[in-house]
Amino acid sequence: MHDSPSPRIASLLRSRQPNHTLPAELYTDANVFDADMEVIFHRHWIYVGPICDVPEPGDVSVVDIGRSSIIILRDDADVVRAFFNVCRHRGARLLPAGISTIGRLVCPYHQWTYELSGELAHAMHMGKDFDASCHSLVPVHLRSIGGLLYACLADRPPADLDDLAEVMEARLAPYGLRDAKVAHQVDLIERGNWKLTIENNRECYHCSATHPELCVAFVDLDFGFDPASLSAEDRALAEAHEMRYAGKAREWEALGFETKAVEHLAGHPTNFRTQRLVMGGAGESQTADALAACGRLLGSMTRKDLGDLHLWGHNAWHHFMGDHAVTTMVMPLSASETLIRTKWLVHKEAVEGADYDVDRLTHVWKATNEQDAHLVAIAHAGIGSRGYRPGTYSRFTEGQLDNFLTWYIQRMQAHGF
Ligand code: FES
Ligand SMILES: [Fe+2]
Repeated sequence: MHDSPSPRIASLLRSRQPNHTLPAELYTDANVFDADMEVIFHRHWIYVGPICDVPEPGDVSVVDIGRSSIIILRDDADVVRAFFNVCRHRGARLLPAGISTIGRLVCPYHQWTYELSGELAHAMHMGKDFDASCHSLVPVHLRSIGGLLYACLADRPPADLDDLAEVMEARLAPYGLRDAKVAHQVDLIERGNWKLTIENNRECYHCSATHPELCVAFVDLDFGFDPASLSAEDRALAEAHEMRYAGKAREWEALGFETKAVEHLAGHPTNFRTQRLVMGGAGESQTADALAACGRLLGSMTRKDLGDLHLWGHNAWHHFMGDHAVTTMVMPLSASETLIRTKWLVHKEAVEGADYDVDRLTHVWKATNEQDAHLVAIAHAGIGSRGYRPGTYSRFTEGQLDNFLTWYIQRMQAHGF
């Protein structure tokens, strides 16, 4: 007889060696996937999209999260709310995934009709004794932090989202995400486990060999290096970059733009890291030539040379630059498939063709995401083989992966595994 999933998963979690990748089943097993969804995606705050997905009353964004689905909408009082995408009659899914605009929410099954506030407004043939006020849509916790929307499907969400708000509200304010628009969106399905997607995103060990487009503006050395592995010439470049970073950090801090790294990772329920990074080359934006892609800057930004404000979460990564922002949501679909949803944001008054060109705006991250999808797929394929043994991380370049998996194991164990 096989062990039931929980003790088996608990034993796999306990067996992971520090500074090593996970035992294979934690990446590939369907029961582990279900446990990950239950714990990591249903009981923690997850990133679900930018606030400019729902700019006007009646605008709706439906996001599927495992077997659940949530409706994010802006109501008639201009409040952004979230509900489970489940009719209170017989449970039908109210709306398909994606962006739309509605007046009221009408269930396609028997036409129960809900206000944008979630109240049941109309249900035919239910009799006089039926109390509509007991049949509102079930709310989902939702918070906007500087225009990034976070949802939590649990009844009692982790309280430490306040720490993210405290760090990021001020850092994001000048980028004015409420006054941005989605200039372009790409959904990509990576053929790998979501933890491999996040691990891949937490290091730039692979960048110089695989990301020629990204490396124009992104300095891979920012994410660590072993000095002994560099030639004398590259070591001099690394030292010059460190000097440049120190100078820029002083300049930006003096202008009121927080620059220093904040890490809120293992040891906390809510996982995030932020830092304002110096870009390479022309230093303005993550484009083919590192020059801005949009003539109209975001929010109240008046300069293009304030670096790349990056932010990670356990299901997201973002880059905020003077001219545009790139936000990415990671949503697991199965143990071996992960949705990567990337949105490029520009000022809502920027005009396509005049202020920006979509191909130029999206070139670097489109290419980078496709390259990363290949890397995640080959990693997942290798891990599924009988020949896989957990591997050792580079302590110079992959410390953040060890930290991420330490966080993952802590969170699973905190919820009973
Ligand atoms: S299930 Fe929605 S109205 Fe019947
Ligand atoms: Fe990458």
